[in-house]
Amino acid sequence: MNIGIIVAAGKGERTKLSYPKQFYQILGKSLLRIALEKYEYSELINKIVVVANEEFMEETKKECYNLNKVYGIIKGGESRQESVYNALKNIYNNFGFDVLFVSIHDAARPFVSIDKINEGIEIAKKYGSAILALPEKNSVSHVVGDVIDKILDRNEIFLHQTPQTFDFHKLYKAYTNFENELKSFTDDASIFHKAGNFVRIISGEEYNVKITTEFDLKFAKWLIKEGKINA
Ligand code: CTP
Ligand code: MG
Repeated sequence: MNIGIIVAAGKGERTKLSYPKQFYQILGKSLLRIALEKYEYSELINKIVVVANEEFMEETKKECYNLNKVYGIIKGGESRQESVYNALKNIYNNFGFDVLFVSIHDAARPFVSIDKINEGIEIAKKYGSAILALPEKNSVSHVVGDVIDKILDRNEIFLHQTPQTFDFHKLYKAYTNFENELKSFTDDASIFHKAGNFVRIISGEEYNVKITTEFDLKFAKWLIKEGKINA
Protein backbone atom coordinates (compact mmCIF):
# COMPACT_ATOMS: atom_id res chain seq x y z
CA MET A 1 0.00 0.00 0.00
CA ASN A 2 1.20 3.53 -0.83
CA ILE A 3 0.02 6.56 1.10
CA GLY A 4 0.08 10.22 0.11
CA ILE A 5 0.75 12.71 2.91
CA ILE A 6 -0.44 16.23 2.15
CA VAL A 7 0.98 18.74 4.60
CA ALA A 8 -1.38 21.66 5.03
CA ALA A 9 -0.90 22.74 8.62
CA GLY A 10 1.03 25.94 7.99
CA LYS A 11 -0.15 29.50 8.54
CA GLY A 12 1.07 30.93 5.24
CA GLU A 13 2.44 34.05 6.94
CA ARG A 14 4.60 35.15 4.03
CA THR A 15 1.63 35.49 1.65
CA LYS A 16 0.18 38.20 3.94
CA LEU A 17 -3.34 36.83 3.35
CA SER A 18 -5.70 36.96 6.33
CA TYR A 19 -5.97 33.13 6.21
CA PRO A 20 -3.60 30.23 5.40
CA LYS A 21 -2.61 30.08 1.72
CA GLN A 22 -3.84 26.49 1.27
CA PHE A 23 -7.38 27.93 1.24
CA TYR A 24 -6.62 30.54 -1.44
CA GLN A 25 -8.95 29.91 -4.37
CA ILE A 26 -8.31 30.12 -8.08
CA LEU A 27 -11.33 29.65 -10.37
CA GLY A 28 -13.30 28.31 -7.42
CA LYS A 29 -10.77 25.73 -6.25
CA SER A 30 -8.43 26.05 -3.28
CA LEU A 31 -4.71 25.28 -3.60
CA LEU A 32 -5.25 22.43 -1.13
CA ARG A 33 -8.08 20.96 -3.20
CA ILE A 34 -6.03 21.14 -6.39
CA ALA A 35 -3.15 19.27 -4.70
CA LEU A 36 -5.52 16.71 -3.16
CA GLU A 37 -7.17 15.91 -6.49
CA LYS A 38 -3.77 15.09 -8.00
CA TYR A 39 -3.31 12.43 -5.31
CA GLU A 40 -6.91 11.21 -5.56
CA TYR A 41 -6.47 10.57 -9.28
CA SER A 42 -3.02 8.93 -9.10
CA GLU A 43 -3.53 5.20 -9.64
CA LEU A 44 -0.44 4.39 -7.53
CA ILE A 45 -1.74 6.13 -4.40
CA ASN A 46 -4.07 3.99 -2.28
CA LYS A 47 -4.83 6.33 0.60
CA ILE A 48 -4.27 9.93 1.61
CA VAL A 49 -3.76 11.56 4.99
CA VAL A 50 -4.09 15.32 5.30
CA VAL A 51 -2.23 17.22 8.00
CA ALA A 52 -4.23 20.29 9.00
CA ASN A 53 -3.79 23.37 11.14
CA GLU A 54 -5.67 22.82 14.40
CA GLU A 55 -7.57 26.09 13.98
CA PHE A 56 -8.72 25.17 10.48
CA MET A 57 -9.91 21.59 10.90
CA GLU A 58 -13.43 22.32 9.62
CA GLU A 59 -12.19 24.26 6.59
CA THR A 60 -9.75 21.45 5.78
CA LYS A 61 -12.51 18.85 6.08
CA LYS A 62 -14.60 20.81 3.58
CA GLU A 63 -11.79 20.69 1.03
CA CYS A 64 -11.79 16.88 1.27
CA TYR A 65 -15.41 16.35 0.23
CA ASN A 66 -15.96 13.46 -2.21
CA LEU A 67 -12.34 12.35 -2.08
CA ASN A 68 -12.51 8.60 -1.51
CA LYS A 69 -8.86 8.07 -0.68
CA VAL A 70 -8.67 10.52 2.25
CA TYR A 71 -8.77 8.26 5.33
CA GLY A 72 -7.84 10.88 7.90
CA ILE A 73 -7.36 14.55 8.66
CA ILE A 74 -4.94 14.99 11.52
CA LYS A 75 -3.47 17.87 13.49
CA GLY A 76 -0.14 19.34 12.46
CA GLY A 77 2.83 20.36 14.58
CA GLU A 78 4.74 23.58 15.09
CA SER A 79 7.07 22.97 12.14
CA ARG A 80 6.56 21.24 8.79
CA GLN A 81 8.69 18.29 9.90
CA GLU A 82 6.64 17.85 13.08
CA SER A 83 3.51 17.84 10.91
CA VAL A 84 5.01 15.09 8.76
CA TYR A 85 6.00 13.13 11.87
CA ASN A 86 2.40 13.27 13.13
CA ALA A 87 1.31 11.78 9.81
CA LEU A 88 3.95 9.04 9.93
CA LYS A 89 2.90 8.04 13.46
CA ASN A 90 -0.76 8.04 12.42
CA ILE A 91 0.00 5.85 9.40
CA TYR A 92 2.04 3.44 11.54
CA ASN A 93 -0.74 3.20 14.16
CA ASN A 94 -3.39 2.52 11.52
CA PHE A 95 -1.59 0.28 9.04
CA GLY A 96 1.84 -0.65 10.46
CA PHE A 97 4.36 -1.66 7.84
CA ASP A 98 1.69 -2.79 5.40
CA VAL A 99 2.48 0.62 4.01
CA LEU A 100 5.39 0.31 1.60
CA PHE A 101 5.85 3.88 0.35
CA VAL A 102 4.80 7.34 1.42
CA SER A 103 4.67 10.24 -1.02
CA ILE A 104 4.94 13.49 0.95
CA HIS A 105 3.70 16.65 -0.70
CA ASP A 106 3.20 20.32 0.23
CA ALA A 107 -0.36 21.61 -0.17
CA ALA A 108 1.45 24.77 -1.25
CA ARG A 109 2.59 23.01 -4.48
CA PRO A 110 -0.72 22.43 -6.26
CA PHE A 111 0.72 22.28 -9.78
CA VAL A 112 2.59 19.01 -9.57
CA SER A 113 1.60 16.55 -12.29
CA ILE A 114 0.04 13.17 -11.55
CA ASP A 115 2.78 11.63 -13.73
CA LYS A 116 5.45 12.95 -11.35
CA ILE A 117 3.65 11.58 -8.30
CA ASN A 118 3.62 8.20 -10.05
CA GLU A 119 7.23 8.45 -11.18
CA GLY A 120 8.22 9.15 -7.56
CA ILE A 121 6.57 5.89 -6.45
CA GLU A 122 8.05 3.86 -9.32
CA ILE A 123 11.60 5.11 -8.72
CA ALA A 124 11.31 4.74 -4.94
CA LYS A 125 10.32 1.10 -5.50
CA LYS A 126 13.70 0.58 -7.18
CA TYR A 127 15.93 2.75 -5.01
CA GLY A 128 14.12 3.29 -1.70
CA SER A 129 13.56 6.99 -2.28
CA ALA A 130 12.85 9.56 -4.99
CA ILE A 131 12.61 13.31 -4.64
CA LEU A 132 11.89 15.88 -7.31
CA ALA A 133 14.71 18.36 -7.79
CA LEU A 134 15.68 20.97 -10.36
CA PRO A 135 19.23 21.84 -11.41
CA GLU A 136 20.26 25.38 -10.44
CA LYS A 137 20.47 27.85 -13.34
CA ASN A 138 22.17 30.77 -11.58
CA SER A 139 25.72 31.00 -10.34
CA VAL A 140 25.82 30.08 -6.67
CA SER A 141 28.14 30.78 -3.77
CA HIS A 142 28.50 30.17 -0.06
CA VAL A 143 28.29 33.55 1.67
CA VAL A 144 29.45 34.62 5.12
CA GLY A 145 27.93 37.91 6.26
CA ASP A 146 27.72 39.74 2.95
CA VAL A 147 30.94 38.43 1.47
CA ILE A 148 31.41 35.41 -0.75
CA ASP A 149 33.29 32.70 1.06
CA LYS A 150 33.37 30.17 -1.77
CA ILE A 151 32.00 29.83 -5.29
CA LEU A 152 30.09 26.57 -5.64
CA ASP A 153 29.89 24.42 -8.76
CA ARG A 154 26.32 24.95 -9.88
CA ASN A 155 26.39 21.66 -11.79
CA GLU A 156 26.38 20.01 -8.38
CA ILE A 157 23.51 22.10 -6.98
CA PHE A 158 19.90 20.88 -7.12
CA LEU A 159 16.81 22.51 -5.61
CA HIS A 160 14.45 20.18 -3.78
CA GLN A 161 10.74 20.08 -4.50
CA THR A 162 8.00 17.76 -3.35
CA PRO A 163 6.68 15.06 -3.83
CA GLN A 164 9.35 13.26 -1.85
CA THR A 165 8.73 9.52 -1.82
CA PHE A 166 10.33 7.07 0.60
CA ASP A 167 10.35 3.49 1.79
CA PHE A 168 8.01 3.93 4.76
CA HIS A 169 9.92 1.69 7.16
CA LYS A 170 13.21 3.51 6.56
CA LEU A 171 11.66 6.97 6.75
CA TYR A 172 9.81 6.15 9.96
CA LYS A 173 13.07 4.95 11.52
CA ALA A 174 14.87 8.12 10.38
CA TYR A 175 12.18 10.35 11.90
CA THR A 176 12.20 8.49 15.22
CA ASN A 177 16.03 8.81 15.32
CA PHE A 178 15.80 12.57 15.05
CA GLU A 179 12.48 13.21 16.76
CA ASN A 180 13.96 15.77 19.15
CA GLU A 181 15.55 17.87 16.43
CA LEU A 182 12.96 17.79 13.64
CA LYS A 183 12.73 21.59 13.61
CA SER A 184 16.29 21.88 12.37
CA PHE A 185 15.47 20.15 9.07
CA THR A 186 13.68 21.80 6.16
CA ASP A 187 12.42 18.74 4.33
CA ASP A 188 12.04 14.98 4.50
CA ALA A 189 14.97 14.19 2.22
CA SER A 190 17.36 15.87 4.66
CA ILE A 191 16.15 13.67 7.54
CA PHE A 192 16.26 10.52 5.40
CA HIS A 193 19.77 11.44 4.25
CA LYS A 194 21.03 12.33 7.74
CA ALA A 195 19.99 8.84 8.85
CA GLY A 196 22.43 7.40 6.31
CA ASN A 197 20.02 6.52 3.50
CA PHE A 198 20.47 7.19 -0.21
CA VAL A 199 18.23 9.90 -1.64
CA ARG A 200 17.53 9.46 -5.33
CA ILE A 201 16.86 12.58 -7.42
CA ILE A 202 14.30 12.67 -10.23
CA SER A 203 13.68 15.58 -12.52
CA GLY A 204 11.44 18.24 -10.93
CA GLU A 205 8.96 20.46 -12.75
CA GLU A 206 9.29 24.20 -13.46
CA TYR A 207 5.61 24.79 -12.71
CA ASN A 208 5.77 22.88 -9.44
CA VAL A 209 6.58 26.03 -7.46
CA LYS A 210 5.97 26.32 -3.74
CA ILE A 211 3.53 29.16 -3.39
CA THR A 212 5.11 31.26 -0.67
CA THR A 213 4.77 35.01 -1.31
CA GLU A 214 2.15 37.49 -2.56
CA PHE A 215 3.91 37.37 -5.92
CA ASP A 216 3.55 33.57 -6.06
CA LEU A 217 -0.21 33.87 -5.48
CA LYS A 218 -0.52 36.25 -8.43
CA PHE A 219 1.72 34.05 -10.55
CA ALA A 220 -0.39 30.98 -9.71
CA LYS A 221 -3.58 32.78 -10.68
CA TRP A 222 -2.02 33.91 -13.94
CA LEU A 223 -0.78 30.40 -14.78
CA ILE A 224 -4.26 28.97 -14.43
CA LYS A 225 -6.18 31.81 -16.05
CA GLU A 226 -3.85 31.86 -19.06
CA GLY A 227 -4.35 28.12 -19.42
CA LYS A 228 -0.64 27.42 -18.84
CA ILE A 229 -1.60 24.74 -16.38
CA ASN A 230 -4.69 22.70 -15.55
CA ALA A 231 -6.11 22.60 -12.08
N1 CTP B 1 3.31 23.04 6.92
C1 CTP B 1 2.74 22.17 7.84
N2 CTP B 1 2.93 22.37 9.19
C2 CTP B 1 3.65 23.41 9.63
C3 CTP B 1 4.24 24.30 8.71
C4 CTP B 1 4.07 24.09 7.35
O1 CTP B 1 2.05 21.22 7.44
N3 CTP B 1 3.78 23.58 10.95
C5 CTP B 1 3.06 22.85 5.48
C6 CTP B 1 2.43 24.06 4.82
O2 CTP B 1 1.01 24.04 4.99
C7 CTP B 1 2.89 23.93 3.38
C8 CTP B 1 4.21 23.17 3.48
O3 CTP B 1 4.29 22.66 4.81
O4 CTP B 1 1.99 23.18 2.59
C9 CTP B 1 5.40 24.05 3.16
O5 CTP B 1 5.55 25.07 4.15
P1 CTP B 1 5.55 26.64 3.89
O6 CTP B 1 5.59 26.92 2.43
O7 CTP B 1 6.57 27.24 4.78
O8 CTP B 1 4.06 27.05 4.36
P2 CTP B 1 3.65 27.91 5.63
O9 CTP B 1 4.46 27.49 6.80
O10 CTP B 1 2.17 27.81 5.72
O11 CTP B 1 4.03 29.39 5.18
P3 CTP B 1 4.89 30.50 6.00
O12 CTP B 1 6.20 29.82 6.32
O13 CTP B 1 5.01 31.64 5.07
O14 CTP B 1 4.09 30.83 7.24
MG1 MG C 1 6.62 27.74 6.83
